Amino acid sequence: MKLLLFFLLIGVVTLSCDNDEIDYENEEVQADYEEQFRPQIHFTAEKNWINDPNGMVFLDGEYHLFYQHNPLGTNWGNMSWGHAVSEDLFRWEHLPVALFPDDLGAIFSGSAVIDKNNTAGFGENAMIAIYTSAGEKQAQSLAYSTDKGRSFKKYAKNPIIPNPGINDFRDPKVFWHEESEKWVMSLATYNSITFYGSANLLEWTRLSAFEYFEGLPFGVWECPDLISMEYNGVEKWVLIVSTNGAPNGGTGTQYFIGDFNGNEFIPDAAPYPLWLDYGKDNYAGVTWSNEPQDRNILMGWLSNWEYAGQTPTSMFRGVMTLPRELFLDTHPDGHLIVGSKIVDEINVISENEEALFDGQVTNDVNLDLDATDAYELNVSISGFSSSGNILKLQNSNGDVVTIGYDMERGELIFDRTDSGTSDFSSSFSKSIENPVDFHEEILNLQIIVDQSSVEIFVNGGLSSQTNLVFPEEIYDELVLTGENHLFYADVKFKSLKSVWK
Ligand code: FRU
Repeated sequence: MKLLLFFLLIGVVTLSCDNDEIDYENEEVQADYEEQFRPQIHFTAEKNWINDPNGMVFLDGEYHLFYQHNPLGTNWGNMSWGHAVSEDLFRWEHLPVALFPDDLGAIFSGSAVIDKNNTAGFGENAMIAIYTSAGEKQAQSLAYSTDKGRSFKKYAKNPIIPNPGINDFRDPKVFWHEESEKWVMSLATYNSITFYGSANLLEWTRLSAFEYFEGLPFGVWECPDLISMEYNGVEKWVLIVSTNGAPNGGTGTQYFIGDFNGNEFIPDAAPYPLWLDYGKDNYAGVTWSNEPQDRNILMGWLSNWEYAGQTPTSMFRGVMTLPRELFLDTHPDGHLIVGSKIVDEINVISENEEALFDGQVTNDVNLDLDATDAYELNVSISGFSSSGNILKLQNSNGDVVTIGYDMERGELIFDRTDSGTSDFSSSFSKSIENPVDFHEEILNLQIIVDQSSVEIFVNGGLSSQTNLVFPEEIYDELVLTGENHLFYADVKFKSLKSVWK
């Protein structure tokens, strides 16, 4: 219900976002990266609310991350684009807010591109942001920067795409389509994605729409991204769509695989819905534009609209997932799937790897983790005899998450019922299921634990789940559980250095 109200709110209500009434200048920042629950290797704003990542683009050695931000409080509102840059996708430098609300409305999600050939006439290599103006009606607007994103000018003739009578009309993601030599925009239009084309980023023509079909969860579609990927030398197109109706409840990110002919997206047959991440907390993710190595790097918002406004943090609210490189692979059932793995740049924060355990688990094995900032565990498990719990991450306060495996159903089960503070929402403390049935003998889990998140990549990222947790302090003990089944485990531990210290 709350979720429904939220969608109605952002769909139809006029936002009070008159820039003149808001004294942004006098908002002193007192960032506290030591505060409880503050992630150490994930992106957070210095303070206040964030949601979707926006306008991710690379230019001259810098990855830009803009994001949905309330500069004035820890709840959703006054939506603006916050801004940060990084050379390695891990160590971020905060920059001033890039786009504030104006007479056309709040600044909702959108994308940014580098106009290499000056198609729009704002200059060669101008950084062009295309976003939703969320006023009485949602419409698409443009702003440009000729100083590497340090300042933006809003286009005088905004909006560039006025509202055609659809309440939910937002989140433009733009890319240059080489073959048809034009810009293509994917736009969320209620429960369809409408594609538009343009020669100059200013004037847009409707190309086609890809619509909701039978069997998909019903919900408003948001934050689309149409990306080109390669598999065995063949080009495939993947359409990413965020929506509610996720497999474990609330909001999540699904995708479609198919072809794009410059006009229309034609999906391959597959057992849709397919989900990019089976955890509860990876939403509104899109990929970087102009990535220098042509990688598809996705970052999502590590939360769920079911409880995003109630999470128990104080100075900051909202965190981004780690950056992930997307890849294609074949599911044992024959269709293609999109996998994800942490980008190789994670090495900049990784310390030495340590072997913690290698052997048969007959009784509980308790292992101390030298965990302060954040860490990565690589656990290989083989020789299962039955379903059951595999491991627990816990601390001396009694906070615990349990990861189990259901052999018959081929599911990895993440239980955060007793993970720490969880009473802020009844939708939070549930166990979360993640299909991992890849018919392999060995289950490989890469688990990345920060102060208030656990990200799990199964078998090299063929499936993943991302979840928030709010333990009193970081989990610093690993228990391999020896409950009535024998298995072999090989555990490696790597500490990850804080990027904020
Ligand atoms: C997704 C979303 C977008 C919208 C933005 C508003 O989380 O609802 O559709 O542009 O958040 O903050």
